[in-house]
Amino acid sequence: MKYSTDRTQNLYKEAKKIIPGGTQLLSKRPEMFAPGQWPGYFTQAKGCEVWDLDGNHYYDMTSNGIGACLLGFADPDVSKAVKKRIDNGSMCTLNAPEEVELAKMLLDIHSWADMVRFARTGGETSAVAVRIARAATDKSIVAICGYHGWHDWYLAANLGENDSLRGHLLSGLEPLGVPTELRGTNYTFRYNCIDDFMDVIEKYGDNMAAVIMEPCRNEDPDPEFLMCIREETKKRGILLIFDEITIGWRRNYGGAHLILDCIPDIAIFAKTLGNGHPIGAIIGTRKAMESADRSFISSTYWTESVGYVAAIATLKKMREIKIWDHVDKIGNLVFKAWKEKADKHGLDISIGGYPCLAHFTYNHKKAAALKTLYTQLMLERGFLGNTAIYPTAAHTEEIVEKYSEAIDEVFRIQAGAIRKGRADELLKGPVCHSGFKRLL
Ligand SMILES: Cc1ncc(COP(=O)(O)O)c(C=O)c1O
Repeated sequence: MKYSTDRTQNLYKEAKKIIPGGTQLLSKRPEMFAPGQWPGYFTQAKGCEVWDLDGNHYYDMTSNGIGACLLGFADPDVSKAVKKRIDNGSMCTLNAPEEVELAKMLLDIHSWADMVRFARTGGETSAVAVRIARAATDKSIVAICGYHGWHDWYLAANLGENDSLRGHLLSGLEPLGVPTELRGTNYTFRYNCIDDFMDVIEKYGDNMAAVIMEPCRNEDPDPEFLMCIREETKKRGILLIFDEITIGWRRNYGGAHLILDCIPDIAIFAKTLGNGHPIGAIIGTRKAMESADRSFISSTYWTESVGYVAAIATLKKMREIKIWDHVDKIGNLVFKAWKEKADKHGLDISIGGYPCLAHFTYNHKKAAALKTLYTQLMLERGFLGNTAIYPTAAHTEEIVEKYSEAIDEVFRIQAGAIRKGRADELLKGPVCHSGFKRLL
């Protein structure tokens, strides 16, 4: 197949001259996939199908909108609700009644929660949650585990003398521009590590407003780990915030904490909630949330209607089709394909994550080159492919079957190249970046 992405590559070259970093989201930089080859721009996205600027068609076997579109791109039911709202006016001097409807829906699903606030992006939603916790407790320090966005309150952890976030999260996330006065306002602990957590809580617990973490991301926690966090925070009057921005709705209807049977004081959602339309929610107990009214937390576009109607339509459809069962099935099929084809060709890989957030890694010293080559070979076969997939409602068994055939070919080529010691010679461009790296 003659395959070219010239138009998209040229546009990206222009973009880098006038947009610092080239894109608005690190995870959408072509350098994160296959520099000079990844089609950075799309003209149309529907279900799990994508058309790039050069007219190429792909099935998206990656993150499907960085995890935002669990129902698939341009879901017809969500789009219908959004279009209707736009035709009736999506912004007004008065408030959107749908925000009350959405609040009630979220509270019905999470019976432990009493109140809701809304925002738009994930990072913004976590910043609001942390502000509420600080206001409710009148304390400053936050203990964090995992990724929660780009804001100062969070990146301040990288101001630590020994860059405590480095190696723990995206290594190299630069806190340049974050006031150094914020040093010492948050501390990190590793997932499933009670000793780490106890160390932080014993040192800083007296001045701690909140512990913020994903209840789970790749695996279920050791039950003692979550129990210890819940008991220690309760005992010390620290608010526990569960970040469900990525894991929420993928494993069940609501936050994953409902499965894990561990109830926080605040839980936050974004991304998936609006299936591609910006909306974030902060839900919590009355005691925690009431302070949101005493602190100044207010923004014009939090009142715009599209996010609310999109979320209402998304919640209804996710429940109707039991999306969590579907993505579990699709993810397991992809796991099976990766494993069977790797075994067949003698490729050493490790598979990990929940089926809804499935991934694999190459156990090879040239793992980054192999990852880039996987993407390159998948693009040539009509797939946006890398070593992780967040399946959606739009992924069918037939599409996975096609993908499985492509995996068979790609792993065969890679295993052959490795045997000849030529893994990176087949690459048509540079190796992908990992984490934050300044663009040249
Ligand atoms: C768990 C979690 N929290 C927060 C965020 C930040 O969300 P956003 O990129 O919408 O600001 C992300 C994004 O990947 C996330 O996975």
